[in-house]
Amino acid sequence: MKTLANQVAVVTGAASGLGTAIAGRLASDGVRVALLDLNTDRLAEVVRDLPTESRAYTVDITQEEQVAQTVRQVVEDFGTIDILVNSAGITGRTSLKSHETETEDVRRVFEVNFFGSYLTARYVLPYMLAQKYGRVLHIASIAGKEGNAGMIAYSASKAAVIGMAKVQGKEYAETGITVNALAPAVIRTPLVDAMPDEQVKYMTDKIPMKRCGTLEEVAEVAAYIVSPRNSFTTGFTFDLSGGRATY
Ligand SMILES: NC(=O)c1ccc[n+]([C@@H]2O[C@H](COP(=O)([O-])OP(=O)(O)OC[C@H]3O[C@@H](n4cnc5c(N)ncnc54)[C@H](O)[C@@H]3O)[C@@H](O)[C@H]2O)c1
Repeated sequence: MKTLANQVAVVTGAASGLGTAIAGRLASDGVRVALLDLNTDRLAEVVRDLPTESRAYTVDITQEEQVAQTVRQVVEDFGTIDILVNSAGITGRTSLKSHETETEDVRRVFEVNFFGSYLTARYVLPYMLAQKYGRVLHIASIAGKEGNAGMIAYSASKAAVIGMAKVQGKEYAETGITVNALAPAVIRTPLVDAMPDEQVKYMTDKIPMKRCGTLEEVAEVAAYIVSPRNSFTTGFTFDLSGGRATY
């Protein structure tokens, strides 16, 4: 069986939170990581700490030409792409009922959460197909499974991500590529810190373990999902919710 060592991973949202934790964990398993994010300064700090040959790429994942160009550049730099982790995401404005939202804000959240992940997969998958191997992980959310009141844009865009994993899992099932999603409950990161306290309390109170998940717990599950060991599960949304997910 293949091992993770010397594989190449593209991780979006790698300058913060879950993306940084997953990139770090993969690098400690010997993976060479291409870190993608809008935040050039933070990316430079993150890449400096990684133990494997890794590189930072500033890119807005909502911009198709930038995504296409960055994926080409990663393949030029590393020779291949074995793993894609889509962690870049935003909540948009929260604590608002649907009739109180602004359409532009909802569209923006879909642009990043759904279209950003669709675009990176769109441009990475041909390289995985050519080598008959690949692991794609879309970071969704428990909000996409259950729907969090006050978070229409976030919840619906993450439901779209879960739908995408189901579709792509089937589309590539016979090609050596698996496509899965991960649905965490609350993990304390800048994304959560930026939300209104009442919205964070609403989400945290729903977790049966009565605590938030940790970045180490995210990285542990993610590292398994994108490893060669995960060979018979595709189109699936893994839970990381302290017992909140009931289906
Ligand atoms: N933190 C949680 O509780 C939690 C729970 C469930 C799911 N998630 C999901 O996990 C993922 C990571 O969340 P996080 O908590 O680490 O957030 P974060 O805000 O800490 O990090 C997100 C990163 O994405 C980057 N980003 C945003 N828009 C981008 C764009 N257009 N192009 C490129 N990069 C962009 C940001 O610069 C940032 O570095 C998100 O998809 C989020 O929805 C988080």
